[in-house]
Amino acid sequence: MENDTYILAIESSCDDTSAAVLKNRSVLSNVTANQSVHEAYGGVVPELASRAHQKNIVPVVDQALKIANIVPNQLDAVAFTSGPGLLGSLLVGVSFSKSLHTALNIPMIEVHHMQAHILAHLIENDGEKSPDFPFLCLTVSGGHTQIVKVSDPYTFEVVGETIDDAAGEAFDKVAKIMGLPYPGGPVIDKLAKEGNPEFLTFNKPKIEGLDFSFSGLKTSFLYTLQKEVKADPDFVEKNKADICASIQKTIVDILIQKLTKAAKAHNIAEIALAGGVSANSELRARLLEAADKNQWKAYIPPFEYTTDNAAMIGITGYFKFLREDFAPSTLTAKARVSI
Ligand code: KG4
Ligand code: ZN
Repeated sequence: MENDTYILAIESSCDDTSAAVLKNRSVLSNVTANQSVHEAYGGVVPELASRAHQKNIVPVVDQALKIANIVPNQLDAVAFTSGPGLLGSLLVGVSFSKSLHTALNIPMIEVHHMQAHILAHLIENDGEKSPDFPFLCLTVSGGHTQIVKVSDPYTFEVVGETIDDAAGEAFDKVAKIMGLPYPGGPVIDKLAKEGNPEFLTFNKPKIEGLDFSFSGLKTSFLYTLQKEVKADPDFVEKNKADICASIQKTIVDILIQKLTKAAKAHNIAEIALAGGVSANSELRARLLEAADKNQWKAYIPPFEYTTDNAAMIGITGYFKFLREDFAPSTLTAKARVSI
């Protein structure tokens, strides 16, 4: 059709290099190269991440275009993550997008990574319904934990957020304490399936309003394990699944409790999840439970749109394209930027 819009999207904010092609609101391709180079270090090493992005970006974009069966000349715009994220990593995506913008003479669109996690819900997905506006989105990733009120694809209001660690960071840090590999979230999720969530209890933070805190929980976890290991050096090894189930339950309890409070305070019953931690099976199950109890409509993203991906950058870029909200060629990456 004449009026179809084809957008190439690029995401390079952390340790995944991703490219996607969207035709209007549908995803034609979404290709991600994960960086295994960080595993040995128990976390993302920024300098290694940017070098891996440089190596990956051309083949990833090439593959995304091939799968979508699109040639560069058909593209209407290039959308990219400008922040927040690791500066060196972001710069790879930004510079690449600028070069396409110049070479193809198409507009470029800057996208906020956290807005993109949320707008992934607006991707056309096998006839599944998108949330109605306004909706509340619990955005839980490695760097952010926020409850955001979304009034339309352009209007976001943070109504609650973490005052210290992010939920994903909490998963990653407790996994590290247990000697589990990075990233810890998926590993804990898997082990917890076989465990007893009531095995250990941890102090929950007492934070007023709709904000979160996870750093105290990490400390409480560390002290509990240290005490147990003193009595039995094999405590962690013997009780891995139970420990994982217990800490996962506590993190999810904290998230669901605040989300419920936010839904009541804002009188909103359209509730969505987003970000890497929304892949967590316990969180997904408990959201559905809470939805049943509180008569919410719950929206859980498909797995491929939970952790970092370029399709979410593409859908956000598409809405900005409709408003001709284009970035100037002088634009640069921003490590920190509020939603
Ligand atoms: O959104 P994301 O891919 O990257 C950031 O923007 O941060 O989120 C990554 C985070 C990591 O902390 C990882 O441990 C967590 O998401 N994560 C999970 C699961 N899958 C990824 N946490 C809990 N359970 C999971 N299944
Ligand atoms: Zn993310």
